Parts: sequence; C-alpha cells; structure tokens
Amino acid sequence: MKIFTIVGSLRKESYNMHLAKTMQDRYKDKIEIEIADIRSLPHFDQDEENNPPQAVKKFKESVASADGVIIITPEYNWSIPGVIKNALDWASRVDKVFIGKAVMALGATPGMLGTVRAQMHLREILAAPGIQAKILPPGGNEVLIGFAHQKFDEQAGQLVDEGTLSFLDSKVEAFIDFVKSEAH
Ligand code: FNR
Repeated sequence: MKIFTIVGSLRKESYNMHLAKTMQDRYKDKIEIEIADIRSLPHFDQDEENNPPQAVKKFKESVASADGVIIITPEYNWSIPGVIKNALDWASRVDKVFIGKAVMALGATPGMLGTVRAQMHLREILAAPGIQAKILPPGGNEVLIGFAHQKFDEQAGQLVDEGTLSFLDSKVEAFIDFVKSEAH
C-alpha cells in the first residue's frame, strides 16, 4: 500500500518530521511511506495552474498515484502552516487529485492541545469542493500528540513514548482498513 505523506514543518528537528520518519520505519512491512518534498513547492499562482512548475506536477502525481495520504501538521497560530495550505491549493485545481482520496491527519506540538485547532481547520479545508478528500472519520481516530518534547527522543529523531506508539499502531491499522474500504 503506497501512502504519500505531507509534513507541514521545514524545521530540521521538527517533531512532525520525526513522527513521519518514525512511521516510515515502524510500519514499513505494512505501508510504503513516501514523504513529500514540501519545500520544493513554489507559492500557488493561479496563472500557472494549467501548466504548473515541475515540483508541483511531481507533487500532484504522487498524490494521484498513492492509495492514501497522511498529513502531519504542526499547529501555527491555531491553524495549519502555510506550506500545507499552499500544497492543498495547488492540488485543488485542474485535475483535483484529492477528490475521493483517503486521508489521515496527525500532529504534534509541545503544547497541551496536540494540534487540535489545526486539525479542525484541516478537516474543513479537506471538505472544500476542489479537494473533497475522504478523511478518516473522527471519534477516536484523531492523533493529537501534545507535550511532544516529552515524547520524542530528539537525538534519535524518533517518537519513543510507548503509550503514544501503541495508540498510533491502532490508528494506523484503522487507516489501512479505511484505505481498503474506500478503494475503488
Ligand atoms: C507555534 N506553536 C504553536 N503551538 C500550538 O500548540 N499552537 C499554536 O497555535 C502554535 N502557534 C505557533 C506559531 C508559529 C509561527 C510557530 C513557529 C510555532 C509551537 C509549535 O507547536 C512548535 O514550534 C512545534 O515544535 C512546531 O512543530 P515542528 O516544527 O516541531 O514539527
């Protein structure tokens, strides 16, 4: 199962990128995770949407060919970072590669609320007419990692908190089932 993964932080020691790398390694026997090169995407420009820059073409092809997409978002000022919104804006135009795509959202923050506000916004955006992704339904399936500084080994660049890892295991299983059930 091919899962394209978008991480909304460009920071070298990003908790959210550490989470993506942890998942890439931990679930490698079940899913193949490719991490998007989000830094390569230029700002959205509607004049270029019909023939976008190469990096955008590559990004859209990766979304289109994936069985599912994981979006790992930091919370910036109670919302998603601009780099994720920018990527979604590109993806929402012309060939609209997210329509019907199974998506799972996760996020990590040192703060207490675990990116809940960012993920609420993300869910609204993913329902927009040009996107219409199929997001793993809420109700126990939200992965909100608060107090990240206590749960990651920053030197190893890995999520190490056992309780969070076992919760994540069950949510990844739920997403794999969701991807299979949404496949058409
Ligand atoms: C933040 N941070 C933050 N945290 C939070 O829980 N809610 C918020 O609204 C914000 N707002 C915010 C804005 C901006 C511009 C920055 C740079 C940071 C803190 C943020 O969660 C923290 O820096 C994380 O470590 C960012 O994620 P990465 O880079 O570790 O993946």
